[in-house]
Amino acid sequence: MKRILVTGGAGFIGSHVVRRFVTKYPDIHIYNLDALTYAGNLENIKDIEKADNYTFIKGDITDADFITGLFNKFSFDGVIHLAAESHVDRSIKDPLAFVKTNIIGTLNLLNASKELWGKDSGEKRFYHISTDEVYGSLGAEGLFTETTAYDPNSPYSASKASSDHFVRAYGETYGLPYVISNCSNNYGPNHFPEKLIPLFINNIIENRALPVYGDGKYTRDWLFVKDHAAAIDLIFFEGKNHETYNIGGFNEWQNIDLVKLLCRLMDVKLDRGAGTSEKLITYVTDRPGHDLRYAIDATKINRELGWKPSVTFEQGLEITIDWFLENKEWLKNVTSGEYEKYYEKQYLDSH
Ligand code: NAD
Ligand code: DAU
Repeated sequence: MKRILVTGGAGFIGSHVVRRFVTKYPDIHIYNLDALTYAGNLENIKDIEKADNYTFIKGDITDADFITGLFNKFSFDGVIHLAAESHVDRSIKDPLAFVKTNIIGTLNLLNASKELWGKDSGEKRFYHISTDEVYGSLGAEGLFTETTAYDPNSPYSASKASSDHFVRAYGETYGLPYVISNCSNNYGPNHFPEKLIPLFINNIIENRALPVYGDGKYTRDWLFVKDHAAAIDLIFFEGKNHETYNIGGFNEWQNIDLVKLLCRLMDVKLDRGAGTSEKLITYVTDRPGHDLRYAIDATKINRELGWKPSVTFEQGLEITIDWFLENKEWLKNVTSGEYEKYYEKQYLDSH
């Protein structure tokens, strides 16, 4: 039986990846390593926790000795690395936390993989999950391709760019077999409500203000999380060594248009009068260094691996909203305690 280490599998995207691999590949044992930070939640993967081919390990990728010990104990055949500090606003307040997890943590995993696999790494694979934010910001025209130069603007994207460079450098210098993918904005079930879509769904439910940064004319390219998990599956098994794949939804929305769509859908779901939720929209101080526009050219993964999104944005949003309305307990649990402190600092102190 093959052994694959997934890092960050209790988080938003990681939980969908872990579920997909555990249920689809009974002959592969999935080891889910997660530090269970504020963003990690075992509830996200409760349905598969008793599967025979699944083991959860609580641990921190910044602890080099622990990581070396883990690789020696389990002799992983592959790594799918998602663990990260992932929220741009938090990176602006505490960049060092992003350097520690996203850069040092990635380096620890690279070192442990290199040591374990040595020269006999032919069948092994280190898959690093990255973001389109490493490319910086687009103007009104154009798309990010795999050859777009890196130009990160936030501490988060700078830390992800740095980790991408280290992965590539380990491939060139030590022959480590790797693949990298850079994906656009995900949304879907289990999304932590500090990010735009789940935050606004939660605020609409709670009748709280919807804090739109700046003029709301920033553009993002949205992809349903299960389509990202499907792309990760394909790339892990069929992607070419030392290659990068861009993943995106061909689905650009200005924030304000997306927020208005969300308001309309939520009014229907909550049986509130048309226009009720839109009244909650509040323009607030902009995010420093706010990237104007992200948009991915996903032609390569479509042409070479046959991947394309399986749901439209309208279908994906409907699934997402229904999930949040059916999982109010989950929402209540993750928005108690530390979340309230974060919310106050982010939205009530600075805006
Ligand atoms: P998330 O914040 O929801 O989850 C991150 C997970 O990593 C959590 O379970 C957390 O407990 C764990 N973690 C954090 N620090 C750790 C540490 N030091 N050791 C071990 N585990 C730790 O993040 P996400 O949105 O699911 O993103 C997952 C990955 O995908 C990240 O690498 C992110 O950069 C990348 N990505 C995210 C998006 C997006 O839209 N969310 C898009 C493209 C790429
Ligand atoms: O592009 C991929 C990236 O997408 C991932 O790498 C990141 O991990 C993920 O967090 C996401 O980053 P963004 O900064 O684009 O996502 P966020 O949901 O924080 O913001 C989306 C847009 O909405 C952005 O233009 C900022 C704006 N926004 C966000 C929040 C939280 C608001 O206007 N108000 C808000 O309260």
